[in-house]
Amino acid sequence: MKGAILAGGLGSRLYPLTYATNKHLLPVFDKPMIYYPLQTLVNAGIDEVIVVTGGPHAGDFIHVLKNGEEFGIRHLEYAYQEGEGGIADALRLCEAFVDGESVAVILGDNCTDFSIRGDVESFHGGARIFLKQVPDPHRFGVPRFDDPQKPSRILRIDEKPANPQSNYAVTGLYLYDAQVFDFIRLNKPSARGEMEITDVNNQYLEKGALGWAILDGFWSDAGTFESLYRTSVYWTRKKLGPAAEALLRDSAQAVTL
Ligand code: DAU
Repeated sequence: MKGAILAGGLGSRLYPLTYATNKHLLPVFDKPMIYYPLQTLVNAGIDEVIVVTGGPHAGDFIHVLKNGEEFGIRHLEYAYQEGEGGIADALRLCEAFVDGESVAVILGDNCTDFSIRGDVESFHGGARIFLKQVPDPHRFGVPRFDDPQKPSRILRIDEKPANPQSNYAVTGLYLYDAQVFDFIRLNKPSARGEMEITDVNNQYLEKGALGWAILDGFWSDAGTFESLYRTSVYWTRKKLGPAAEALLRDSAQAVTL
């Protein structure tokens, strides 16, 4: 399976930070944000990766990722997305690279310690999404289940619904067979002018080809100031262990001195 990291867009929710560089190169504790989704793909055994980026700082990725060798990547490719046409529009640019195979897609601002290795190894076509319970589902793609009390069958997925029908988020990790590019071609821009990945997932759902699993681990996007901070705190704790508590406590005390 090949891998795609979608890291386009202008990151305007993080202005003024993203005047200086691309959102996905901002620090999450001790690493640039994009290291985390990249590591998720590498940990799944994927060593051919395409990074889709865009905006005025696209060239910065080369300085950080180089040819990908130091991450264990055999083949690293870049694509440039004009404008901010949406996640499905960014994925569209990966068709030649994917070349009829299946692809693990991860959004460049999604950080998780969950391993998709088993799902990648057992993937036999269709699509697979990963769900996580969240306190703020209205920020995400949200599945409606046949039985809200006992999630089993997804009826449809709503993108950023005002009245979420469950408290699950569709995370930004997806496995697709090559048919995904046919579905994208059938896609039309949404009311907010974007080609929505949720529409693509609903197309798989209508064909009875959308599988899902619970993401069993930490997951967060890092595309807002709050989620960027929360994600950094998580990785500080994960990497420093008990020493992180003293650091976080001292930092909190420093601001009250
Ligand atoms: O994080 C998971 C959520 O990501 C899903 O639950 C939603 O269904 C999905 O639409 C998406 O929602 P966001 O509003 O958080 O997406 P955002 O516009 O912030 O884009 C997330 C990443 O996707 C971004 O870091 C880079 C990539 N992207 C996005 C757009 C709009 C592109 O590569 N190109 C784009 O044009």
